[in-house]
Amino acid sequence: MNRSVVAVPRFCERSPTILKRTPLKTFESIDLFEPLKRALADQDYTTPTPIQAQAIPPAVAGQDILGCAQTGTGKTAAFALPILDFLGHEKPRAAPNRPTTLVLAPTRELAIQIGDSFRRYGKHMKFHSALVYGGVGQAGQVSSLRRGVDVLIATPGRLIDLMDQGHVSLRDVQIFVLDEADRMLDMGFLPALKKIIAALPSQRQSMFFSATLAPKIRELANSLLFNPVSINVTPKKTSVELIEQRLRIVRRENKVSSLTELLLGKDVTRSIVFTRTKHGANALVKKLDKSGIQAVAIHGNKTQNARQKALHAFRSDQINVLVATDVAARGIDIDGVSHVINYDMPVEPESYVHRIGRTGRAGADGIAISFCTGDERGELHAIESLIGQKLKIENPEERFEAPSGAPKSRGGGGGGGGRGRGRSGGGERSGGGPSRGRSGGSSSNHSFGRNKKPGRHASAR
Ligand SMILES: Nc1ncnc2c1ncn2[C@@H]1O[C@H](COP(=O)(O)OP(=O)(O)OP(=O)(O)O)[C@@H](O)[C@H]1O
Ligand SMILES: [Mg+2]
Repeated sequence: MNRSVVAVPRFCERSPTILKRTPLKTFESIDLFEPLKRALADQDYTTPTPIQAQAIPPAVAGQDILGCAQTGTGKTAAFALPILDFLGHEKPRAAPNRPTTLVLAPTRELAIQIGDSFRRYGKHMKFHSALVYGGVGQAGQVSSLRRGVDVLIATPGRLIDLMDQGHVSLRDVQIFVLDEADRMLDMGFLPALKKIIAALPSQRQSMFFSATLAPKIRELANSLLFNPVSINVTPKKTSVELIEQRLRIVRRENKVSSLTELLLGKDVTRSIVFTRTKHGANALVKKLDKSGIQAVAIHGNKTQNARQKALHAFRSDQINVLVATDVAARGIDIDGVSHVINYDMPVEPESYVHRIGRTGRAGADGIAISFCTGDERGELHAIESLIGQKLKIENPEERFEAPSGAPKSRGGGGGGGGRGRGRSGGGERSGGGPSRGRSGGSSSNHSFGRNKKPGRHASAR
């Protein structure tokens, strides 16, 4: 049975607005592949989260999706279930080196985690998945590609290497997912992404997901999607309400002692501490060690083996403090993180939303504490402008020190040092401000089977 053909009449006359009003109430109420339902029951997933409720029906029907929902609200299943459903119902046969579906993620750890999610959700069905990411030998990846792959999960760099060497062709890809779409579409990843998209067939289904989608990125995403169902769960609340967000005014020289004291508190059971630089992360681990606090660092200069070891030690409770750069800010899902601490304010305001989103996941609560020096007030303003709220100051009696005038190690938040705290809220980011792009629910779809009209995506290349 060709499911996409059967599925078309179910949704073709519905506008996305109507879809939004009739989200899934239970996983039972949709014709998902039976083994998937069993796996969801095993996981104790009783109710679809809002993004799942709104994205799964049109995704199963083959529509393109642009999905924006807060951190920790189940976006992975929102794309993994429709893919697995497609594989279960249509049983496409993957030719060697020609994967049927492709999921791109910005970091290796996230790619690995997405692979684990596919395995969990697909545990009662047969399918082949493969992971492709850098920092490890490619031989194993090459041989799994050769066996034929239903779900390929990749980071862009290594995927392009393997494409260039002829180990993988994307010509048969029927469903394409960008997780952390805004990160993938920003300047750093864009050239690689363009190359990958150019290698995809024009007839395909595409789904882009993220917790943050700035209007500019949304525009770019829309140009790569075909008549997408645009889903924007709680558009005004970029960050999760269950996370208690606090700001601590600190002096540069007191950062370490302030952190040590905080980490020794009884309620801080599991924490991720974010630093601006890799070097800063290493140095901080050493300083914490001197105070008797065991921590591990994870950042882009570590070997893949060391990165995985660190994450494993943290996940399995051997270590309770993970010191990370933004490499761990996105997508990483670890149970029971009680605190996220911004030891350094993030340079990009979106990064703040993702960092703090490592706590308060799947309905749990959590605390995020951001250390802010006089030099970092520019970053603070940008964050407050993005999330549309002022962070509550823990220690209002403290005054911001005068800015040091030292140049920032990376551009982006520049020039912030001299500004007084005053009344922020004013949009410093062009097009920023509290209102996140409106969920433009376009689409009166005529053709949203998985097979699209050829040439639709040609302009995007
Ligand atoms: N329907 C559900 N019922 C219960 N738990 C769920 C459900 N869907 C997902 N979860 C759990 O919620 C947690 C967060 O899911 P996931 O990592 O997919 O979130 P996300 O929206 O992708 O977050 P981020 O923006 O940080 O990437 C996971 O531990 C997952 O197992
Ligand atoms: Mg995610």
